Amino acid sequence: MHADPDRALPVADADQRELLLSCGAALFNVRAAIHALGAHPATTLFPRRDDRTLLAVVRPFAARRPDPRLVELADAVPRRHTNRTPFEAGSIPVSVVAELRHAAEVEQAWLPRLDGKQLEGLRELVHKGHHAQLADPAFLAEWRQWTGRGPDSRDGVPDYAAGSMPSNNGGWVLRDFGTRLRGRPDDSEPLVVVIGSFDDTRVDRLRAGQAMQRVLLTATAAGLDASFISQPVEVPAVRAELRQLLGGGLWPQIVLRLGRGAPVPWTPRRSLADVLMEPSPLGAS
Ligand SMILES: Cc1cc2nc3c(=O)[nH]c(=O)nc-3n(C[C@H](O)[C@H](O)[C@H](O)COP(=O)(O)O)c2cc1C
Repeated sequence: MHADPDRALPVADADQRELLLSCGAALFNVRAAIHALGAHPATTLFPRRDDRTLLAVVRPFAARRPDPRLVELADAVPRRHTNRTPFEAGSIPVSVVAELRHAAEVEQAWLPRLDGKQLEGLRELVHKGHHAQLADPAFLAEWRQWTGRGPDSRDGVPDYAAGSMPSNNGGWVLRDFGTRLRGRPDDSEPLVVVIGSFDDTRVDRLRAGQAMQRVLLTATAAGLDASFISQPVEVPAVRAELRQLLGGGLWPQIVLRLGRGAPVPWTPRRSLADVLMEPSPLGAS
């Protein structure tokens, strides 16, 4: 698996941390698919020091019985889509929250329990990150390039995928994709979780991306919707504050909002031909 640095976002993601998270998500999909086919995905992260864009080599080997849990997650891959609409009232069962926490831990990341005070602090940091980004003309220029695209675009966030904006969302500020405000006034409080890693190296980030995808697919399999709240992790000073809020031991990698939303149109996918290439000798060996 290679990264495609041409599609990085140099302002919002200056150190390509989110690029690694995104590739980690794709890597988890590959691993889950291989498991679902009844093989073991032997995975080496960053196999070559001299090739920074070669992120992983995955070799399927040794047929074995498919793991039913991973079959379920692989099945959820095409159904997982970001849902930015208001989420319904009604809490998420404790057993599902435990499954989400377990999904992060299996992938060597952490989904900490946040108390009321930490949630309040996180809400403020989302505001802080959001407004810092809106005050940055370079961010706004990049944002305009990446979002609001028409139906023919196979990349970025198209207009129609934004959905209606929650009008309250329990005080959690979401990015405004320019869609009309159609949210209900009594939007419930969504479940907001942070995925953290124990260190912040490129390996940790790639692992955190796999954890993020495992959490998202576990949520999809449980009938939940999800969206991202990345403002506090995209502004380095705010991310440092969030790290302190979590106790100073974990590196916050991504913030997710979970619940049950209205159906949304799905974003397009790039064609297979666009994302596959001939394996290099290393990949083929
Ligand atoms: C690391 C990462 C951060 C993201 N941050 C945000 C965000 O802050 N706000 C948002 O609306 N979507 C965010 N997204 C969602 C992407 O825009 C979305 O995944 C992408 O457009 C593909 O659409 P899909 O999730 O529906 O497949 C993020 C995605 C990733 C992988």
